[in-house]
Amino acid sequence: MITASETKLPRISTALPGPKSQLVIDYDKKYMSPSYLRDYPFVAERGYGAIVEDPDGNAFLDFAAGIAVCSTGHCHPKVVEAIQKQAAELIHIAGNDFYHRHMPQLAERLVKTMPKPQDYRVFFGNSGTEAVEGAIKLARYATRRDKLIAFYGCFHGRTLGSLSLTASKNTQRKGFGTLLGGVEHIPYPYAYRCALGHTKETCGGEIIEFLEQQIFKRLFAPEEVAAIIVEPIQGEGGFIPAPLFFLQELQRICNRHGIVLIVDEVQAGMGRTGKWWAYEHAGITPDIVLTAKGIASGMPISAFIAKESIMQWKPGAHGTTYGGNPVCIASALATMELIEGGLMANARKIGDYVFGKINDWPQRFKIVGDVRGKGLMIGVEFVRDQKTKEKAADLRDRVIDNAFHRGLLTLGSGENSIRLSPPLIIDEEQADCAIRILEESIREAEKNL
Ligand SMILES: Cc1ncc(COP(=O)(O)O)c(C=O)c1O
Repeated sequence: MITASETKLPRISTALPGPKSQLVIDYDKKYMSPSYLRDYPFVAERGYGAIVEDPDGNAFLDFAAGIAVCSTGHCHPKVVEAIQKQAAELIHIAGNDFYHRHMPQLAERLVKTMPKPQDYRVFFGNSGTEAVEGAIKLARYATRRDKLIAFYGCFHGRTLGSLSLTASKNTQRKGFGTLLGGVEHIPYPYAYRCALGHTKETCGGEIIEFLEQQIFKRLFAPEEVAAIIVEPIQGEGGFIPAPLFFLQELQRICNRHGIVLIVDEVQAGMGRTGKWWAYEHAGITPDIVLTAKGIASGMPISAFIAKESIMQWKPGAHGTTYGGNPVCIASALATMELIEGGLMANARKIGDYVFGKINDWPQRFKIVGDVRGKGLMIGVEFVRDQKTKEKAADLRDRVIDNAFHRGLLTLGSGENSIRLSPPLIIDEEQADCAIRILEESIREAEKNL
């Protein structure tokens, strides 16, 4: 419920950044690592629902949700209550060494989202990249093979193992020397830019052929490959969904050669696409599913959910100090209850509503090349010219900045796309408001063409 001092829609009353926000920005500059991105000067002070306020009292409609993390919105009362209650009972005990009921509780909840719950086991970490690291280790351990296949445009994290898979922007890899060996990248099906003119449903057949006829015959024999890791919808890469047949083909190849299929749902999962997991739209059965971000509304927890037949490592083979801490688990359980209790259906409903209103943007705006995604995982790609499809990162940045000044928070994705990943709680009025702001922001950016 919104209180008298709160709002559902943006409310901007100072120049941005306001004076109090500027103090925080200056303070931050003095002490923080310069590697943080901070594309525009938003400073968060408090959040409720789909709104975040800055220290100057400006209220922003949050279509970034802390990079798709705040799935239940900011400080959902049920999540806050669960965290507070658990924090007063037990904060930490190290699940690596001792038992506590919270770990199997969340694990049970997670495996129940899988095709055959009894076939899966769970390991908890603290972040997406940790889930990826663990999955790499598990796939290598289980198969006794070491080669890995990932996709151009993919993002799996920034620690050295996951970074070896990440092939999103060279700034993320540059300067860090040699990464993990035995990793090969292949193209991801990107229908809007498909050189062969395929559609969103058919793009990628040649990539499967390339994998089987070139990679497997010239580089890695398939019996050397431990895992193929794929995002069912590329997140950092530009919110690009893989065609369903493509995921099915990967499953076929993995089954045929005993390769572990790892599906990275860190950004796409947890109800955002209208189902628990984005891979479900393709009807496949992954060997390992990775989750983080939206699982606990902002508390740091991740998990990899692996088939029991694969998760057969010995005690001590993998571990962690904090992973699966009771407070994060309490937040995750409350979050999953809310997602199942209506937010997943809302993501589907409002997602359809938004697509119904923005699918024709490429016809209405010269600089919009493509609108794509599923549920509340929506990507908009910006181009200088719809015929040549020349990428227009500068225009995309301008749209983001224009939207910020109108009270809408969004994030860039890929080279020239905007991602819309609001909390799953938004309603039609908030969706309309975001669409109106984006349309004004695009129109303003078009003046600079
Ligand atoms: C698909 C995917 N995998 C892994 C990660 C890494 O997650 P984290 O930043 O929590 O380490 C991200 C982060 O954006 C992601 O989008």
